[in-house]
Amino acid sequence: MYTNIRPKATSAPIAGVPEVAAPLSAVPTSQVLIVDGEGATRDLVVDFLTMSGQSVSGASSVTDALARIETEPVKLIVVDIDLEGGKALMETLRNEHPGILSIALTSSSDVDLAVETMRRGAFDYIRKPFKVGQVVKLIERGLAQQAVRTENFELKSALALYGLADRLPEFDEVGAALQLLATTALDQIGADGISILMADADVQLPNTYAGNCSQLTVRDLTELARSSSGGALADGSAVFRYLHGSDKTELISSVLLTPLVSRQKSIGWLVGTRTQGHGFSEGDRKLLTILADRAATAVHNGQLFETIERAFRSTIETLIVALEEKDEYTAGHSERVAEFSGMIARGMGMTEVQIELVTQAGRLHDIGKLAIRTEDLNKPGPLTDEEYERMKLHTVTGRELLEPIPFFQEIIPAVSGHHERMNGSGYPNGLAGDEIPMIARIVAVADAFDAMTSDRAYRPAMSEDEAFCELWRCAGPQFDQEVVEAFSRASGRLRPAAAQ
Ligand SMILES: [Fe+2]
Repeated sequence: MYTNIRPKATSAPIAGVPEVAAPLSAVPTSQVLIVDGEGATRDLVVDFLTMSGQSVSGASSVTDALARIETEPVKLIVVDIDLEGGKALMETLRNEHPGILSIALTSSSDVDLAVETMRRGAFDYIRKPFKVGQVVKLIERGLAQQAVRTENFELKSALALYGLADRLPEFDEVGAALQLLATTALDQIGADGISILMADADVQLPNTYAGNCSQLTVRDLTELARSSSGGALADGSAVFRYLHGSDKTELISSVLLTPLVSRQKSIGWLVGTRTQGHGFSEGDRKLLTILADRAATAVHNGQLFETIERAFRSTIETLIVALEEKDEYTAGHSERVAEFSGMIARGMGMTEVQIELVTQAGRLHDIGKLAIRTEDLNKPGPLTDEEYERMKLHTVTGRELLEPIPFFQEIIPAVSGHHERMNGSGYPNGLAGDEIPMIARIVAVADAFDAMTSDRAYRPAMSEDEAFCELWRCAGPQFDQEVVEAFSRASGRLRPAAAQ
C-alpha cells in the first residue's frame, strides 16, 4: 500500500542510488478476496469462483485481509461487515485503496445499513443467506467494471503522454523538457513535489524539480534509503518504496519512486512526494512509471517529440486491440472498417494523404466504446432502449477522448458523426445532408457494410451482394449516394437493378 511510510524489518542498506533489488517475496495472484469469518460460506464462494476461472482466496479475519491486500494484486474484495472490524475495513478500503472494488456482506436486514454501506463506497451489497450463483455473477460484474477502469486508466495515461509530447517542441533544450516532465507528473499523480534526479555523469543533465515540498537530491534519496528499514521493492523496471527517518524529509509522508531507464541503463530517478493526505495509489505508480519510461528514452535520444508520439500512436493501437477484445462480437471490425473506408476514399479520387486520414478514421471510429459497459457491448441480442441510449454515447465519448490531441483533430468528425443519417434522423446531433462531414459519411457506409456482413449472436451475416443491395436501398435517406456508388465501383459491383 502507499498510504503511510512505515518501518519494516531491516534488510541490507542501499548504497548510492538504489539499485533494482529482487522482489521480497514471490508474486501471488489472487485478484478476488473473500473476507468472511464463517469458513463454510467462505469456502463455498471461493470454490465456485475458482471453478468459474477466477483467481480467488479467502481470509478469515480483517487482519488477515489487510495482510493479503499488502502482498496480493487484489482487485475486488467481498467483506462480511458483521465481522469484527469489518466496517472499519470497508472504510480503510475506501480511503486507502480506492482502486479495489468492495462488496459488503451482512446478515442484517436493516435497509439503512445497506444505504450507508453503499454511500461509503461499496460497489454493491449482499444479504445473507444468499445464492452462491448470484454472488459469483455480482463478482464477475464487478471485475468487468474494474477492467473498464483499467482501460480508462490506460487511455488517461496515453493522453498524459500526448500532452507531454505535444508541448515538447516548444523547448529547444532538454532541461526545459525535463521541467515539463516534472510538471506533467506533478499534475498527473497529484503529488506535492516531483524531483527528477539525474544520476549518471555521462548524461550530464540537470536535476529538476516541480511542486511545493522539499526538493530531493540523489544524496537525500540515498540517505532516506539507508535510514529506512526495509529493502527496495522491485517490480520489473519499476522500483517503489516508502522511505522514512530523514531529518530533511521528515515532513514527507509518502514517496513514490521510479527509475528513468534508457537502453537498459538507469540514467536517474523520477520521485513523487506527498506531505499529507492519502498515500499514492497503484494507479499513480503505473502512471509515473509510464511517464518515466517514455520520457527517459526520449531524453536520452534527444528526440523527444518523435519518440513520444510514436509511443502514443502505439498506445492507441493497443487500445484498439483492447476494444476488440472487449467487444467479442466485432473482432477485426475496426481494421475492416479502416480498409473499406480507404477503398471508398480512393474510389472517390481523394489524395494519398486524405486516403490515409479516412483509413485512420475508420480504424478509430468506435474508440468511444472503450467507455461502454462490457455487458452492453457483448449482449447476445437486441439492446433495450436504455442500453441503446448508453451505446449511442460512444460517439460523444470518442470525440471527448480525441479532442485534446491535435493530430487527431481531422478524424474527430468521423468518430462523432458516423451514426448521423442524411435525412437528419441519426445521432448524436441529428445532422443532415452536407452538415455531415464527408469523412463521417464514408465511415458510416464502411461501418454498416461490415456490420451487415458479420455474424452476430442474434442473426447470421448477410452475403456481400445482399449488403450492397441494402446500402443502395438506404442510399439517400441514410447514406450518401455518392459514397455508396464509390464503394460499389471500388468493389467491382454494378448498381443493383432495384436501385436504378
Ligand atoms: Fe459506432
